[in-house]
Amino acid sequence: MSDNASSPRPLPWIARPGARPWRCAPAPAEVRGFHAALPDYAPTPLTALPSLAVELGVGRVFVKDESCRLGLPAFKALGASWAVHRTLAERAANGEEPGPVTLVTATDGNHGRAVARMARRLGQHAHVFVPRGVHPRAVAAIAAEQAKVTEVSGAYDEAVRRAAEEAAAPDAVLVQDTAWPGYERIPGWIVEGYSTLCAEIDEQLAAEGAVEGPDLVSIPVGVGSLAQAVVTHYRSRPSGRGAPALLSVEPESAACVLESLILGEPVSVITDDTTMAGLNCGTPSSIAWPFLHRGLDAAVAVPDADSTRAAGDLAALDVSSGPCGAAALAGLRTVLTGAGAGARRTALGLDATSVVVLLSTEGTSANPHSTTGH
Ligand SMILES: Cc1ncc(COP(=O)(O)O)c(C=O)c1O
Repeated sequence: MSDNASSPRPLPWIARPGARPWRCAPAPAEVRGFHAALPDYAPTPLTALPSLAVELGVGRVFVKDESCRLGLPAFKALGASWAVHRTLAERAANGEEPGPVTLVTATDGNHGRAVARMARRLGQHAHVFVPRGVHPRAVAAIAAEQAKVTEVSGAYDEAVRRAAEEAAAPDAVLVQDTAWPGYERIPGWIVEGYSTLCAEIDEQLAAEGAVEGPDLVSIPVGVGSLAQAVVTHYRSRPSGRGAPALLSVEPESAACVLESLILGEPVSVITDDTTMAGLNCGTPSSIAWPFLHRGLDAAVAVPDADSTRAAGDLAALDVSSGPCGAAALAGLRTVLTGAGAGARRTALGLDATSVVVLLSTEGTSANPHSTTGH
């Protein structure tokens, strides 16, 4: 961890030299075709934000705006749709009863809503466990998808445990966006589903003349499944294409990936309330960890106030970004500005010509914390 000389405490940040050359296998190519065939599929916008490029001292800044993805206000439906499709196809191939199953999951908001939407569309049932701290409007949006909702008084990890117990019932399947030893297949499909987002960025940057791709991608992180997909994408590209720096951004109150990277092994942290509800996770996904450990260049944690400010700045630029989505900008600001920024820029290989992509993973309506001050 590097010190921030003018700050009373060390900056919650770690840089990991050596992540750039690490390589892994790509996501399956058929995921993109699956999404493209869905009735409400369209690539989400990649929007240039020149004023942020000036502020941050880089060449170009783009935001990947997930405020409307497959009819929902967050990126999560990419993973849920592919995983539910694979789950039901496998059940059919195994000759299991064709009757409706109950898709069970725990959620900080967005994933559960996406699973509930898929269940409703496909004539299945959904049962969603919600931990404390999720905004009532986000809970209501899950129930509006005709899902059964169980509110849990504990934190996210507790909601995941309850969902896993419930899914032991007959005709129930756990569709969870985090993995642990013994439960890895379906979370793996969810990660594969997120690959479409990265494939779109490649095409959109090429259309903008940035064919080499980004020099840095800033990723909001909860359990690390999205970050796993991003690492997989950029560390499996044909050699000759640039390898971007990949930055993980978490809330200070739930920085399980930062803490795990500092310690060199996956650990759970005690979480506290945060407006970045979708990032309020205490344990990295077991299948994500090897990718995060080897493929992330840096991790940073930010306070709620920074993401609130970033959401306001993005709103002023006509980008709808909830607290989790805006964390990507908040984290980037923390790293690229302030005392010690020069060394951090060098660690990330950035200069005044660099192309940066922020993943704004939700719109304001997904997670109304930012607008209500709840
Ligand atoms: C809006 C939003 N952004 C980012 C994330 C982080 O994804 P992951 O938990 O895969 O790290 C989530 C997870 O729920 C989310 O809802």
